[in-house]
Amino acid sequence: MSHVNGLQLDTPTRKKVTIRSLQYKKKNHTPISMVTAYDYSGARMVDAAGADMVLVGDSLAQVMLGYEDTVSLTMDEMLHHCRAVARGTQYAFRVGDMPFMSHQESHQQAIRNAGRLLQEGRMEAVKLEGGVYVADTIRAISRAGIPVVGHIGLTPQTISQLSGYRIQGRTGTDAYRLYQDALALQEAGALAIIFELMPTLVAEFISEKLDVPTIGIGAGAGCDGQVLVYHDMLGFLHETAPRFLKRFANVEAVVVDAISTYIGEVEAREFPAEEHTYRIKEEEFDKFMELVQTDNAAT
Ligand code: KIV
Repeated sequence: MSHVNGLQLDTPTRKKVTIRSLQYKKKNHTPISMVTAYDYSGARMVDAAGADMVLVGDSLAQVMLGYEDTVSLTMDEMLHHCRAVARGTQYAFRVGDMPFMSHQESHQQAIRNAGRLLQEGRMEAVKLEGGVYVADTIRAISRAGIPVVGHIGLTPQTISQLSGYRIQGRTGTDAYRLYQDALALQEAGALAIIFELMPTLVAEFISEKLDVPTIGIGAGAGCDGQVLVYHDMLGFLHETAPRFLKRFANVEAVVVDAISTYIGEVEAREFPAEEHTYRIKEEEFDKFMELVQTDNAAT
């Protein structure tokens, strides 16, 4: 695989990821990687790094737009970011989140908004949160020809109902409920299911029982794949990190350091230096001066 400036170039061996290739990975126990992205440059880097799937998650609300939670995000905001991500993605399978209240009213509403994510946002699948109670919606969307990814366990859009950010499936009854949720989503046609914040043993057991891939976040290594939020894994927005999060870089520190160096150089008149500037030929500058002087003489 060849790289230029860290970006992977087109190679004949790299193929576009499809639903079929994701199923193949599940069957062959090959781990699936998914990373979120929200804009063109981020998507380019996620794609160049070789991720199987890129998710325009509704975490967009918090990490890009500064909202307090994901509930505030609108369809139009999501579409705007999906389009940018689609432009930056060549190989990864593109999934767009359905914002809160974009599918809850009726199946017609769900199909219409899911369709917009594909038609206008150029996504290849939509993701929606919920268990047994959204299975019928998932069925309706997939019957309309729109691939769907499910999302169970901790579901941030219904965080109040769950009484906050808590690990799900920690009692036998709750774990069994998650199992029922996963089976219902698979039966409804979900192509994959996100497992968020649940005990490793529970996630592993359910993953083995399912035919569709499971993608975990805070659900241990027994899932068929893993997903992390771009800003969290790269160390933007340094806030308290949950136990499951591994930071693979400290980008915030690098960026703040670079910008403060720039400010220091501007203030010290060290930037721009000679090599960052453009010249004019001496005779052209003389001509310019002559023109200015002629102007002055006339006024
Ligand atoms: O919105 C998001 O980023 C997500 C992931 C955490 C799975 O749903």
